Formats: sequence, structure tokens, C-alpha cells
Amino acid sequence: MKMKRPPKQLHHQPLLLVLVLAVSLSSSIAFFGYKYPSERSTFHPKLHHLYNGSHKASPPAAKSTATTTSVHSKWESGPYHNWKLFAVDFQEMMQHLKIFVYPDVFNKSNPFANIFLPLQNPFNHPKLGNYFSEHMFKVALLGSSLLTPFPEQAQFFFLPFSINNLRNDPRFHSEASISEFVAEYTANISHRFRFWNASAGVDHFYVCCHSVGRQAASGHPFLHNNAIQLTCSSSYFQRFFVSHKDVGLPQVWPRPHSTLNPPHARHRLLYFAGRAQNSQVRQDLLNLWGNDTQMDIFNGSPSFPYDEGFRRSKFCLHVKGYEVNTARISDAIHYGCVPVIISNYYDLPFANVLDWSKFSVIISHQDVAFLKMRLLAITPQTYLIMYRNLCKIRRHFEWHTIPKGYDSFYMTAYQLWLKRSIHRLSY
Ligand SMILES: *[C@@H]1O[C@H](CO)[C@@H](O)[C@H](O)[C@H]1NC(C)=O
Ligand SMILES: *[C@@H]1O[C@H](CO)[C@@H](O)[C@H](O)[C@H]1NC(C)=O
Ligand SMILES: *[C@@H]1O[C@H](CO)[C@@H](O)[C@H](O)[C@H]1NC(C)=O
Ligand SMILES: *[C@@H]1O[C@H](CO)[C@@H](O)[C@H](O)[C@H]1NC(C)=O
Ligand SMILES: *[C@@H]1O[C@H](CO)[C@@H](O)[C@H](O)[C@H]1NC(C)=O
Repeated sequence: MKMKRPPKQLHHQPLLLVLVLAVSLSSSIAFFGYKYPSERSTFHPKLHHLYNGSHKASPPAAKSTATTTSVHSKWESGPYHNWKLFAVDFQEMMQHLKIFVYPDVFNKSNPFANIFLPLQNPFNHPKLGNYFSEHMFKVALLGSSLLTPFPEQAQFFFLPFSINNLRNDPRFHSEASISEFVAEYTANISHRFRFWNASAGVDHFYVCCHSVGRQAASGHPFLHNNAIQLTCSSSYFQRFFVSHKDVGLPQVWPRPHSTLNPPHARHRLLYFAGRAQNSQVRQDLLNLWGNDTQMDIFNGSPSFPYDEGFRRSKFCLHVKGYEVNTARISDAIHYGCVPVIISNYYDLPFANVLDWSKFSVIISHQDVAFLKMRLLAITPQTYLIMYRNLCKIRRHFEWHTIPKGYDSFYMTAYQLWLKRSIHRLSY
């Protein structure tokens, strides 16, 4: 259309430009003059200079208070993208998904039995830490209704090596020898069974929750390129994680059961405890907000019990350390504290099912200075909705030795289910 305009209209453009400028200038004056003063006090003082209009980040909270109707339509769908569609497909999965586990997982006379056998009860091992989800996945799989002894019926094949146990085995231990072992085991599997070759590994998967497992697949090109990695360190920025193929696993530390503190009993705005030296963004956070009177931000351990912070605060921070993932998100969820996530490029667990924006606040590293403004701009009503949504999704961040309902195991299995449509050669 524009091309057809007669050239003479060009003469009007300077006038038009002036008009547009005048309008936008006056509206931005109104915007900055009116909207900002009350919020200004919530910026960190060191960053006031960013608010002269030259900084590209717009105030993210301004939109959320625009109109009550848009707030309501955004929130009424609950914490899911589409619960009905998901629930129907999930039931399909429960009936039809079948997973075969290579028999090494049961073989006590294998010289590598310690690598393959499941842990008796991961809940009784207080020191598993970041490896807890790795062990729980295997234990839950073996106790689940999805297991099949007939590989011909399976859509997926589980390679049962444990990265944690490889790490603790003096025969392996280093990342290089872990990946060597894993490559050799995969080659063995492809010789002993027909199933690997039928798909070049596309329907095979393995689990690792700790970053030491990151390179595990690197010694075997097909394992790396084709097999599905279930991992807690699911970062778009890692070359050993491929978000279209791999699956983000929730990192959970077992915490004691406790009744939830209701929102009105949460008197503190925000809580974080963690080692600042683990990442630049944690250092930035501490430098900006370390002495804030409404937010409890600790370098290292807090001055009160760790879980007390989750109970008494409205929001709980997860800030990337060495990795994008830590257990703080599932801790926050467990204690009913709305997570605030500062961890760029974190492929959040179950994000194709859960709408994280409905029960968490996600902030980019570069916007750490807006942290308090973002939180204070969340109205009490919106907070209540987020809290209720959070209560609804807690069950997805729990492991059970015999998996049940929509727990972490079945939610993860559902991620496999979504990847099931593969072509494989006949066995
Ligand atoms: C806005 O702040 C930036 C950064 O401090 C500065 O370079 C720029 O001159 C300021 N602009 C105005 C209009 O004050
Ligand atoms: C268990 O492992 C041993 C040693 O590798 C092997 O000889 C045996 O056949 C395996 N048993 C089964 C049931 O696969
Ligand atoms: C692979 O198979 C060879 C030959 O059976 C065996 O010696 C080796 O221990 C196996 N390695 C792994 C990692 O399973
Ligand atoms: C799978 O392919 C590899 C490499 O081509 C081959 O050595 C192996 O024997 C095949 N496995 C089976 C079970 O035929
Ligand atoms: C916080 O307060 C302490 C004690 O007054 C001071 O030493 C420290 O530099 C302050 N930290 C920040 C980040 O302002």
C-alpha cells in the first residue's frame, strides 16, 4: 500500500514526524512524571540513573495493573497452559506408555552391579543432595505401572547406569572415565540387544541430575545426538543439553512434611540464602539488596533455620549458582513460598504443561535492580492467586518410591510420552 502513495505526500512527513514526536514526548513525560515517583523509592539507590529513560528495560510491573479484567482473564486458567488437554493426554499415557529397563538393573552378579542397581531407599540417604532426583527417578520407574518386561511392547528403553554411583566408584570417578564407561556400556547394549540399532538410540534415555554427568554421553556420538537425557542441569546455554530432545528434571531435596504457612502469616517480602561466590548474579544481588530491610538475603547460611526463611516469606529466590538449577525452586514450592527465579536460560521443568508465570516470578539477570519493584508491584489479590496456583502444582515436585498421581515421576514420564512418535526399523 505504501508503495502506491503519490510522491507528493512525502512533503507531509516532516510535519507528521513532529506531531508523532510531540505526542510521544508528552505521553512519556506524563508517564515518567506520574507513574514513577511512588515506585522510585523501590529501585536500588545505585540504579536511579537507569530511570532517566535511556535504559531499555521498561518497568515490567506497570502492565500487570493495567485493568482488572485483563488481570482476571490472565489468571483464571490456573497454573496450567491447558489443564483439560493435558489431563486427557496424561490418562492416555498412563494406559499406553511402556518402558523397558535393560536387565543390568537387576543383576547382582554383574561386576558393575553398584552402578546399575537402584538404591534401596533414597529417602534414607541424607547425603544424596543434588543426586536425589537421579536415584528417585530409577526407584520410581521400577515401582511404576509403566514398566514392561517385554521390550517389543516398549516405546522407550532405559539405560540404568547411575552417574552418582560412577562418581563414587574409584574405578571411574573422573568425568572422562565416566563418559568412557557410558560409551562402552551403550556399545554393549547395541550388541546384546536389537533395540538400540532399530532407532540408533532415539527411543533410549538415561538420567543424570548433577552437572558431573553432563559429559556422560559425549563418548558415544549416537548417545549424545539421539538418546534423551533427563537432567536437572537443563540450560539452553549448555552444549550437552539439547532442549528439543532432552528433558528437564526437577531438582528436589527431600524435606520434612509440614503444614503450609498461609499468606497472611508471611511477614517478610523475600528470602535467599546461598553462596555469593558461585555466580556473578548472586554477587550483584547481594551488593544491591544485601542490606534491604524487607528482604532477607544471606551470603551463606541464614541467621535462623534454613526452612524458617521459606515459611515466613512471601517470595523465595532461586538465583543461579554454578548451574542454572538448584533445589531452591522445589524447596520454595514445598514450603508454599512463591519462587522468584533469576537464572537465565533455565529450561524449567514441565514448562510445556505448567505456566510458570502463574505461580512464579521470572527475572532476567540484567534486571536484578528491578527485583523489589517487581515484587511490590504484585497486588495482594494477584499474590493470593499465585499462592493458590503454587499449592496446586506442589504435587508435581514430589518423588515417591512407588510413584503416584501427577508426581515428579509421572510428570517426567509424560515428557517422554510427548516424544514417542519415532520411526524405528523392525527388530
Ligand atoms: C541517562 O543516564 C545515562 C547513564 O547514566 C547517561 O549517560 C545519560 O546522559 C542520561 N540521560 C539523560 C537525558 O539524563
Ligand atoms: C549377570 O551378569 C553376569 C556377569 O556380567 C552375567 O554372566 C550374567 O549372565 C548376568 N545375568 C543375567 C540374568 O543377565
Ligand atoms: C562390555 O562388554 C565387554 C565384553 O563382554 C565387557 O568386558 C565389559 O565389561 C562391558 N562393559 C560395560 C561398561 O558394560
Ligand atoms: C548394531 O550395530 C552395530 C554397528 O553396526 C553392530 O556391530 C551390532 O552387531 C549391531 N547389533 C545387533 C544386535 O545386530
Ligand atoms: C551492609 O551493611 C554493612 C554494615 O553496615 C556494610 O559493611 C556493608 O558494606 C553493607 N553492604 C552493602 C551491600 O551495602
